[in-house]
Amino acid sequence: MKRILSGMQPTYQLHLGNYLGALKNWVDLQNAEPDNENLYCVVDMHAITMPYDRDGLAQATREIAAAYIAAGIDPKKSAIFAQSAVGDLHAQLMWYLATMTQIGKLNRMTQFKDKVGKNTEKAGLGLYAYPVLMAADILIYNATHVPVGEDQKQHLELARDIASTFNHRYNREFFTLPEPMIMGDATRVMSLRDGNQKMSKSAESDLSRINLTDDADMIADKIKRAKTDPNPLPETVDGLKGRPEADNLVTIYAALSGQTKVQVLEEFGGKQFSEFKPKLSEITVEKIAPITTRMRELMADPTEIDSILKNGADKARTVASPILSEVKSIMGFWES
Ligand code: TYM
Repeated sequence: MKRILSGMQPTYQLHLGNYLGALKNWVDLQNAEPDNENLYCVVDMHAITMPYDRDGLAQATREIAAAYIAAGIDPKKSAIFAQSAVGDLHAQLMWYLATMTQIGKLNRMTQFKDKVGKNTEKAGLGLYAYPVLMAADILIYNATHVPVGEDQKQHLELARDIASTFNHRYNREFFTLPEPMIMGDATRVMSLRDGNQKMSKSAESDLSRINLTDDADMIADKIKRAKTDPNPLPETVDGLKGRPEADNLVTIYAALSGQTKVQVLEEFGGKQFSEFKPKLSEITVEKIAPITTRMRELMADPTEIDSILKNGADKARTVASPILSEVKSIMGFWES
């Protein structure tokens, strides 16, 4: 049995990158491997490491939970919970793990560097320690597998590293080294405005991403305006080399339609973007619209989501509490 854990930050809105790189894979995994234990967290404690909207945080947390459910995460098969609801356990383990994390390793974290730019002196400690909290999120459940997009790979390597430091220091195989699961072709969905930049929540232009809350017209408009090059689509995957925008759009089409890029190019190779883009809009709307509609329905009655989040937190606590107790005992803390 695998114990799967993953999470998303309730910052801004979810976009197609979050969906294809993570959420869709969670749903596929949940349905394909019913024996797994699944824990899906809304990482609100990570969200506060950057300036955030205090008045919108709780609602943003509900909205991410709604997105999980709308995309197909079934609260009967997967615990859905807010990180802060078990924050006492996550943060406590984080502190212990922080004592075995070298700052040299934190200094190499590319996401931290990207977020702070040159202004390292003014960066917050929380942002710096972000990957240690992420390691605690995973290790507090002794999760075996972590499905994420490619951008989280380095954070996961650090989590494995910290787990093995713990095991080594206390001379026992206590923590499982969590396996990253970076699944499918769309592990790194790129911006619609620049095929060399990741599609991200924080990019300034909303035209760079498709949000899970965009309606059909917005999706069609963004895809129509997506940057391309003047050539028709190639016949082979090799022909996508050096054409990041074309590669990205083909990847998105493939992931949404459940095909390989080879199959997509069999159908569209030699065709112009003017022919391909309307088809891409069509499939995007077809896959995203039902999620958006379901999210709206769920958000209309927050009591249901609140109850799902509460049950999820209870479940998470049941798994995490004994693990934290064992960690304390292994580390030699006083116990009554
Ligand atoms: P976050 O909220 O930035 O992103 C959530 C998930 O979406 C994936 N993702 C993408 N995948 C493909 N293409 C993209 N353009 C793209 N953008 C985002 C991310 O890889 C991620 O899987 N640090 C994490 C949250 C976290 C976490 C954890 C994840 C905290 N604790 C424990 C797993 C386990 C983050 O900021 O994700």
